[in-house]
Amino acid sequence: MRTPLVAGNWKMHKTVGEALRLVDALLPLVAGVEGVEVAVAPPFTALHAVGQRLVGTPLRLAGQNMHWEAQGAYTGEVSAAMLAEAGCAYVILGHSERRQLFGETDAGVGRKVAAALAGGLTPVVCVGETLEERDRGAAFEVVERQIRGALGSLGPDVVDRVAVAYEPVWAIGTGRTATAAQAQEVHAFLRQVLGSLGGTERAGRVRLLYGGSVKPYNSAELLGQPDVDGALVGGASLEPETFASIVRFRV
Ligand code: PGA
Repeated sequence: MRTPLVAGNWKMHKTVGEALRLVDALLPLVAGVEGVEVAVAPPFTALHAVGQRLVGTPLRLAGQNMHWEAQGAYTGEVSAAMLAEAGCAYVILGHSERRQLFGETDAGVGRKVAAALAGGLTPVVCVGETLEERDRGAAFEVVERQIRGALGSLGPDVVDRVAVAYEPVWAIGTGRTATAAQAQEVHAFLRQVLGSLGGTERAGRVRLLYGGSVKPYNSAELLGQPDVDGALVGGASLEPETFASIVRFRV
């Protein structure tokens, strides 16, 4: 019912030349995969060139961030229209690195979600607790606050126009992944919260991605969970064979 989405978040890696070599290597490796949508999120500087290379292919393009305003005096920022013109279908919003290192707030993420949707992009809204929050039993409360902050003021209609990525901060780039049971538990809870925002039918259509040290060896188990509808992959998306074997998680 929900086509899984496997997205590679390249973070601050790859020049234009390196990015093109990566997608050129990746395209034949994922060409025949059915029933999985695949996206890559290069840094801003490589988006246009990669977008051109992906025209006519099933691989989709994503931005890693954007500003909520359409244009203006916002040095260093890009808008939804700029991402869409470069070929993006998706934009990652509220990644924990943006929240932790660059001061993004739940309210700011909410404004970005609205602007992304207005600009024709599908937001991939990231939520996830820190280790300290998990240890004191606050994981559910944190992800609920984050998801309500991102979507709560936008009305029920937006709920099935986004994807959500659950990325426990303690699992990102650490090699320490959530267990499949931990991921499933939070995903099921997130779907309940989405249901309270937009009704169970809409919530049933939302793709909930897991992120945080997804690797070829753990992808089948994680993505085999009933409420895990894909993966947001960081480190393992930088190498074509590794990313392709996550995309081929069913094989
Ligand atoms: P990781 O990153 O796969 O390197 O843990 C995931 C992410 O930050 O999206």
